[in-house]
Amino acid sequence: MNLLYGLRIFKNYSGAIVLVSHDKMFLDNVTNRTIEISLGQIYDYKKPYSQFLELRADIKEKQLQAQKNQEKEIEQTQKLIEKFRAKASKASMAQSLIKKLDKVERIAVDQDDNAVMNVRFEISKEPGKIIVEAEDLAKSYGDKQVLQNVDLLIERNSKIAFVGQNGQGKSTLAKMMVGEIPYEGSLKLGHNVEVGYFAQNQSEYLPPEKTVLEIMEEAANETNRVKVRDMLGAFLFGGEAVDKKAKVLSGGERNRLALCKLLLSPFNVLIMDEPTNHLDIASKNVLKKALQNFNGTLILVSHDREFLQGLTSTVYGFKDREIKEYLGDIDYFLEQHQLENLREAEKRTVVKAGKKEAPKDVVKLTREQEKKLKKLKNKLGKIESQIAALEEEIEQIDIALAENYEVTSSEVDFFKNYKAKKAKVDTLMEEWEVTEEQISSFN
Ligand SMILES: Nc1ncnc2c1ncn2[C@@H]1O[C@H](COP(=O)(O)OP(=O)(O)OP(=O)(O)O)[C@@H](O)[C@H]1O
Ligand SMILES: [Mg+2]
Repeated sequence: MNLLYGLRIFKNYSGAIVLVSHDKMFLDNVTNRTIEISLGQIYDYKKPYSQFLELRADIKEKQLQAQKNQEKEIEQTQKLIEKFRAKASKASMAQSLIKKLDKVERIAVDQDDNAVMNVRFEISKEPGKIIVEAEDLAKSYGDKQVLQNVDLLIERNSKIAFVGQNGQGKSTLAKMMVGEIPYEGSLKLGHNVEVGYFAQNQSEYLPPEKTVLEIMEEAANETNRVKVRDMLGAFLFGGEAVDKKAKVLSGGERNRLALCKLLLSPFNVLIMDEPTNHLDIASKNVLKKALQNFNGTLILVSHDREFLQGLTSTVYGFKDREIKEYLGDIDYFLEQHQLENLREAEKRTVVKAGKKEAPKDVVKLTREQEKKLKKLKNKLGKIESQIAALEEEIEQIDIALAENYEVTSSEVDFFKNYKAKKAKVDTLMEEWEVTEEQISSFN
């Protein structure tokens, strides 16, 4: 989902939200409580995600310290027990110390799930200087035109991000590049180019009834077949996990399997369509590092700003069937994009304001009218100060009443005067409204 769009929906929602996500920025912006599920345990923190990470590190540090202290105490008691045991007269003391030690509840430190995948992307061979050259590309699905007039020139070792709202044609162009769907125009891959492709919808690509191991073995060639189990281990499919069928895999596991499978074929260009989908934060970091170290050409479709930061040096912005190139990273793109949006918004307001304000310029008051308007404004000012003075008086009387009801209310005609003041305020209010209306009729 588009991040900003999602944020707006969730931020404005007044009910409770339970959000399962690996997107740090998104979580930080929406949630105020974090529940961690790790190694079969549940931990509940009343904090947004980033603060939860800090808090958890803090708690763990304290637990470790407490555990150390306890271990020291236990060790000392054990030494004492040994000493007492040696003497017949102290045997009963030794016994009671042993009992005491048995009762001590051992401090446990929360276990971390440190398992993280391990991945490296190596290029198969050096390709030519030009990776992709396309001219006048167009694509439509039936009547729906998705891309039009697209020219592309991608050079070796470029790091490009495809960015744009849902449905703008990013995946479509990726599929065109790998020859998965037909299109109009010309698109050529350069000399010796070998593409490794990670598709957006992994679940459609993995045969549901096959096991993890079967899928890998079928995709392997003779040389790398022997390495399949090791490779799976690096992607956290150890032991029996390799016998799981694709259909039972979690989103993240499916993604990891697809990444692992990708490594079985040679490539020097990586086209990855949302490779961070479902990946947990640790795996995302590992993938990002691996892509940063990749010596080939990278084309990355992603909505994940944090992931893209520092990873690509060119952004292709997809909008209204066209692609615009921004020579900079994702932050530069967002800056430029914001400026463009602002400029567009400005244009719109100018047009609107122009339309609305035109009649105002046309209205010109006669001297007579201007005099009248000034008078009315004066009157309004006077009414306002009269109301303020009366309200102040009434407030003072109220205070006096509260302090000493008997004395205050015993004054001659007290209630008559009090009521009159209140009635006067009401009349002035009405007058104020009428005057205000008269003034606004001049505009
Ligand atoms: N096989 C198809 N048949 C008909 N329409 C399609 C087909 N594939 C894609 N489309 C439409 O083409 C448009 C572009 O789709 P595409 O998958 O390229 O978008 P995207 O930019 O990758 O979006 P997202 O960010 O959601 O992944 C969408 O409106 C989509 O509904
Ligand atoms: Mg897509």
